[in-house]
Amino acid sequence: MDATQSASQPLAAPETTAALEAIDIRKSLPMGRQRIDILNGITLRINHGELVAVVGPSGSGKSTLLGIIAGLDNPTSGRVLIDGIDITRMSESQLAKVRNAKIGMVYQAFNLIPLLTAQENVEAPLQVGKHPGRPSDRAKELLELVGLGHRLKNRPNQLSGGEQQRVAVARALAADPAIVIMDEPTGNLDQRNGENVLQMVRDLRARTGKTFIIATHDPKVAAACDRAIHMVDGRIAEEG
Ligand SMILES: Nc1ncnc2c1ncn2[C@@H]1O[C@H](COP(=O)(O)OP(=O)(O)OP(=O)(O)O)[C@@H](O)[C@H]1O
Ligand SMILES: [Mg+2]
Repeated sequence: MDATQSASQPLAAPETTAALEAIDIRKSLPMGRQRIDILNGITLRINHGELVAVVGPSGSGKSTLLGIIAGLDNPTSGRVLIDGIDITRMSESQLAKVRNAKIGMVYQAFNLIPLLTAQENVEAPLQVGKHPGRPSDRAKELLELVGLGHRLKNRPNQLSGGEQQRVAVARALAADPAIVIMDEPTGNLDQRNGENVLQMVRDLRARTGKTFIIATHDPKVAAACDRAIHMVDGRIAEEG
């Protein structure tokens, strides 16, 4: 590192580091000869242990924002800090390590690997990087935690939607991430299963103290969170 670079770095981290900070995130994509603006300057701060909803109409940019804060997509400009570490200027290999250690993802369509059992799906993230204990023990423990200790050997097509989403949540927790990011986790579930998954997330937050960020259309999910960030047209409209 040269002198000019080091001079521009802060000398010490601020006293309370946010779990996640987004600073003026913008995203635009080429559309023919023009560019379309998808995110228009998103700034937010989420503290450790918070359960936060991201709500807003279809097309408002929720999934795009989640992909960027998870390090899966690059912003056009702006910065994302995970635990005070800027992930927007990292090499792909550095970023892969941070993602594996710090972030778990859950999607609307579960995205489990069809040929693997529930237990093998939860073990999958533990095959990357170093993790304490045996992957099989950790996977069993997590599946018990989400109420699926009796379904270890079932493949996804032998599980209900609600059960598949529980496996996906167990998988997201496998590498013990600080932050779990969920994109419409109840979107493919009926009301009862949606409520079960939501209750499970609340219990997990209480037990683990992890940070949960959930994009949702469901007002019940948003109401069960500590607060909701409202997005409209790629901007934050209000917080409540
Ligand atoms: N790869 C892409 N190319 C072009 N446009 C895109 C791309 N990805 C997203 N968009 C556009 O960006 C906008 C925001 O999309 P995004 O998926 O983030 O919305 P969302 O809030 O998650 O919507 P939903 O509630 O329907 O999931 C939409 O208008 C979408 O069409
Ligand atoms: Mg979306």
